Amino acid sequence: MTWYRVAKENSMKDGDLAKISVNNQEVLVIRDGDKFYATSHLCTHEEYDLSEAFMDDHQLICPNHFATFDPKDGSVISPPEGAGDISPLKSFKTRVENGDVMVEI
Ligand code: FES
Repeated sequence: MTWYRVAKENSMKDGDLAKISVNNQEVLVIRDGDKFYATSHLCTHEEYDLSEAFMDDHQLICPNHFATFDPKDGSVISPPEGAGDISPLKSFKTRVENGDVMVEI
């Protein structure tokens, strides 16, 4: 596991999402208030690109069929209506160091 710089802390506003290519994989970096989180970037329902998702009340919402995920750990808060269970997103550790957002991959 290695820590990678993925963004400047002040380059992302509250609620911003950024798809960043790190070590040959795409990671979704999420800012929620003063916190940063990182998850896999494809919705586990039908692989919608979650860089087009949005944050609402600390929840990451896929705009395709409104699956809702917890950005802290990628867990599913609610699957799309009628879809049954869906898998959680992959979650990565984050930290802020000297104004840089770091993700452990
Ligand atoms: S693709 Fe995300 S909810 Fe269906």
